[in-house]
Amino acid sequence: MHPPLIDPFARPITYLRVSVTDRCDFRCVYCMAEHMQFLPKADLLTLEELDRLCTAFIGLGVRKLRITGGEPLVRRGIMGFFRQVSRHLGTGLDELTLTTNGSQLARHAAELAEIGVRRVNVSLDTLDADKFAAITRWGRLPQVLEGIRAATAAGLRVKINAVALKGVNDTELFDLVRWCGDEGHDLTFIEVMPMGEMGEENRLDQYWPLSDLRAQLAERFTLIDLAERTGGPARYVQLAETGQKIGFITPLTHNFCESCNRVRVTCTGELFMCLGQEDNADLRAPLRAVPDDTLLRETIRAAIARKPKGHDFDYSRQKIEGQMTRHMSHTGG
Ligand code: GTP
Ligand code: 5AD
Ligand code: SF4
Repeated sequence: MHPPLIDPFARPITYLRVSVTDRCDFRCVYCMAEHMQFLPKADLLTLEELDRLCTAFIGLGVRKLRITGGEPLVRRGIMGFFRQVSRHLGTGLDELTLTTNGSQLARHAAELAEIGVRRVNVSLDTLDADKFAAITRWGRLPQVLEGIRAATAAGLRVKINAVALKGVNDTELFDLVRWCGDEGHDLTFIEVMPMGEMGEENRLDQYWPLSDLRAQLAERFTLIDLAERTGGPARYVQLAETGQKIGFITPLTHNFCESCNRVRVTCTGELFMCLGQEDNADLRAPLRAVPDDTLLRETIRAAIARKPKGHDFDYSRQKIEGQMTRHMSHTGG
C-alpha cells in the first residue's frame, strides 16, 4: 500500500476525472469552438496507458473514477477500457461512472450497467429541439432522449446537468424541473464557467447566477436544503412538493474549493490540479519512459503537493478575470 494523496490544504484526493478524448460529436457553444482543431491521435494516451494511469491513482487512494471527454463514448474501444478498469470495483474503487452528452448512450447503456456502472451524468440544457440544436450547434434532441431512456431501462441512475444560460434556457427552468421529476432523474444546474476563447459568444452576457434561479424555484416550491454531498461540487435542495432533488453547481457565486477532493487528467496525460488554474504536470512522459510505475507515482505526488487552494474565476469585474483560453472539452469539465 502507498500512502494516500493529501494536498497542502489537508484535502484527501480520492476522486479522479479522466478525459479519454478531446473529440465530441457536438460543439456546445460554452465548451468548444465551432471549428475545433482536434489533437493528433498519436498525442493521446492509449487505452492501455489510460488503464495504467487509473490503476496507479487507485493504488494511491482514488475511490471514485469519472470518465469524461470530449464525449467519452466516441472513443474507439472505450467499452473495453470500461471493462478493464471495472476490475477495481469493490477492491479499491467505489464508483466507476461517466459524464456524457447521451448521443451514444442508447447503444452502450446495457453494457455499461453490466460492467458495473451505476449512474451516468448526462448534459442536457433544454427540452426544446431547436434550442438544443443551437446550443450543441447540430445535436439532435430525440437521439439524446432515447439514450436517456435506454440508460434508465438498463437500471442506471441518470443525473441531468443543465448549464444555466441567460437568454437561452432561463425561460425553461420549470420545464426541466417538471420533466426530471416525471422521469425520476436528479437535476443539477451549473453556472457557466469562463473558458474557451471569447468572440462569437461572451460568457459574461450568458452568465446567469444560480441564486436567481433558486429564488424563482422558491416562489413555486418549498426548498429543503440537504446537507448531503456526492463528493462533487453540487449543493442539493429537495422540493417538498415533489420530493425531487435539485443540485446547484456555483463555482462563481459560492465556491466549493475548500472541500475539493478531485484532480483531472486530460486525454494527453496532463494532470490538472484544478479546473480553474493552468498549472499541470505531464504524466505521459513518465508513463512512456519506463514500464515501472515508480516515476509515475512520484510525479503524481509532486503535482498534488502544488494543488492550489482554489480557482481564479471571477465575474465580479467588468471584464472576466481568470478567463481561460483552454476549452472545457480539453479538461473534461
Ligand atoms: P457527481 O457529483 O458525482 O454527480 O459528479 P460531478 O457533478 O462532480 O460531475 P459532472 O461531470 O456531472 O460535472 C458537473 C459540473 O461540475 C461540470 O460543469 C463540471 O465542470 C463542474 N465541476 C466538476 N468538478 C469541478 C471542480 O473541481 N471545479 C469547478 N469549478 N467545477 C467543477
Ligand atoms: N461552464 C460550465 N459547464 C460547462 N460544461 C462544459 N462547458 C462548460 C462551461 N463553460 C459542462 C457540460 C457537462 C459538464 C462536464 O461540463 O455541460 O455537463
Ligand atoms: Fe461535447 Fe459535452 Fe462539450 Fe457539449 S459540453 S461539446 S456535449 S463535450
